[in-house]
Formats: sequence, structure tokens, C-alpha cells
Amino acid sequence: MSTLRFDDRVVIVTGAGGGLGRTYAIEYAKRGAKVVVNDLGGDRHGTSASTSMADKVVQEIKAAGGQAVANYDSVEFGEKIVETAIKNFGRIDIVVNNAGILRDVSFGNMKDLDWDLIMKVHLKGAYSVTKAAWPYFRKQKYGRVIMTSSNSGLYGSFGQANYSAAKMALVGLAKTLSLEGQKYNIFSNALVPTAGSRLTETVMPEDLVQALKPEFVTPLVVYLTHESCTETGQIFEAGAGWYGTTQLYRGKGKVIPHATAEDLKANWSSIVDMNNARHYNAQELMGELVSALSEHGNSSSGNTGNTGGSKTH
Ligand code: NAI
Repeated sequence: MSTLRFDDRVVIVTGAGGGLGRTYAIEYAKRGAKVVVNDLGGDRHGTSASTSMADKVVQEIKAAGGQAVANYDSVEFGEKIVETAIKNFGRIDIVVNNAGILRDVSFGNMKDLDWDLIMKVHLKGAYSVTKAAWPYFRKQKYGRVIMTSSNSGLYGSFGQANYSAAKMALVGLAKTLSLEGQKYNIFSNALVPTAGSRLTETVMPEDLVQALKPEFVTPLVVYLTHESCTETGQIFEAGAGWYGTTQLYRGKGKVIPHATAEDLKANWSSIVDMNNARHYNAQELMGELVSALSEHGNSSSGNTGNTGGSKTH
């Protein structure tokens, strides 16, 4: 099989000064891409900044014969990061939204700052960088976007209300951008990685941190953003050498015209039955709802405001 090359492609990897992002940046450069190595160089809680993290990765890439430039802006300032790509390399093809911090604390003890900083870096950051790249993608009819989500977002995680909310929001963002981008050949997917890094070293035992190499995740990011990959709007997961996908499944449910809360209680086992559950797209969902309406018969326009306990039909 031929090597997946990225010659003449320009890639921004945010948060590429360490952990997962560093491995992506190095791999893209090895495969011929010109890489913007973005990193604010702060600590894992989103405070402080330095240029050294991005610089080190750029040096590593250049020493191996690759092409890269550093950018030290926070991801909230996406225009500056995209400007670095345009000024140095003349174009932008791929955005890997990877920068991240943690502000773990139980919901009861969470401060506004914990919430705001997480939203700012993960959600606003991914929005900002992708938004700045979007006009270039549209004009050249080519773009690839990765949104880094997390199992904390998909399943929830104790002490990470802020982080899990932001990470699930990124799934929605990836899915909507895939719909809006498709006719311009802009593909967007959500990535769920698991790897040992400074973010996970506080929650994982040391041997697991060492074993779960970020390099296990790298091939998935590379393939998903290659011009030959047609996936878009999906959630992909990688860690420990395992690669897979996660989808939202919707049960068959039940149409109960003019239902009361009591009707729902009586039919609960059918409502939550997942035996014939399947994956839907947004159009199919609306189609099913319209056909549910037809089961209401001629009285479908009435009784929608029924909040009482008694049946009105
Ligand atoms: P990491 O801490 O090693 O890397 C994150 C990088 O982002 C750091 O180098 C940091 O300096 C940079 N950064 C932080 N705030 C920034 C900002 N405002 N602007 C620019 N750069 C900034 O962590 P890791 O594990 O490599 O995480 C990468 C991404 O993967 C994050 O989005 C994280 O939430 C996500 N993730 C990681 C998992 C894991 O198991 N390591 C699990 C699920 C998600």
C-alpha cells in the first residue's frame, strides 16, 4: 500500500508542544506536510505561558529535515494562528484542534473561572481556529478538521462537569461542520483519544501513563485528515492500539398520540427498549417524527397543551 503523503499540505496542530499534539506534528512533517506547531506553553490548568514548548517541537521537526513554524498564541485567537500558516506557507489545509487543559473539581465546588477557562480553551479555541481557516477551506474547496473530544464527554466523568460539557459540545461542532462543509469538500470528525500525557498522569497509574503511548493515536489523526479519507461527521476513538468508532443510537420508541405522563409510565418499557435501536441522521429523524404525526389521525392538531393527568382523547 502506498504511503499516505501530505506534500504541499499545510497543517495547524494546536497544543502541539507536548503530549498527543507533538506526535501529530512530527508525523505530519515526516509525511511531507508543512506544520504550524501551536502551543501557548502554559501549565495543565491553563495558567502561565512560554515559547519553549512549541520551539522544541519545531527544532525536532527541522532536525529531521521537515518543515515547521512555531506559533505561541492561545487558541482563542484563531486568526493569528491561521495567519501564521498563511504568512509562512501560503495556505491552510488541515486543522487539528487538540489544545487542552483541565480544571477538575466537583460541580458543587466549581468556580466560574474553572468553567470559563475550560470553555475558552476547548470549545471557543476549536471554534476560533476552525472559523479562521474556514474561508480558505471554502475557497480552495478542501479542508480537513479534527475536533478532540473525550470519553469524559461521551459518558460523563466525576469531577469534570466543565470538561465533559466542552468535549461533548465539540462532537456537535464536528457534526454540524461536516454538514455545512460537505459541498466544499471540507470534512470534519471528532476524535476520542486515550493516552498517557501530563493531562492524564494525575488520574492514571504511572505504568499506564507510560504504556498508553500518544503514538498509538497518531495514525488515526493522520488517516482521517488525508485526502483519500472520505469519513466526515463521525466519532472515532484510539488508544492502546485499539481503533474504533462510536455512534449515537436511537431506540424504536413508540408513538402515543396525545400521551399523558401516566401513558408514558404505562408504556415505559417500549419507550426505552433498545432492541431495534439504530443510528440515524438528522433527516431520517425528522422523517420519523413526521410519520409519527400521521399516526395521530385527524385529531393531530388538538390537545398539545394538555398538562393534566387525565386523557383528553
Ligand atoms: P497535554 O497537556 O500533553 O497537551 C495539551 C497541550 O495544549 C499542551 O502542550 C498545552 O500547552 C497546550 N495548550 C493548553 N492551552 C492552550 C491554549 N490556550 N492555546 C494553545 N495551546 C494550549 O495533553 P494531551 O493529553 O496531549 O491532550 C491533547 C488533547 O486530547 C486535549 O484536548 C485533551 O483534552 C484531549 N484528550 C486527551 C486524552 C488523553 O488520554 N490524553 C483523553 C481525552 C481527550
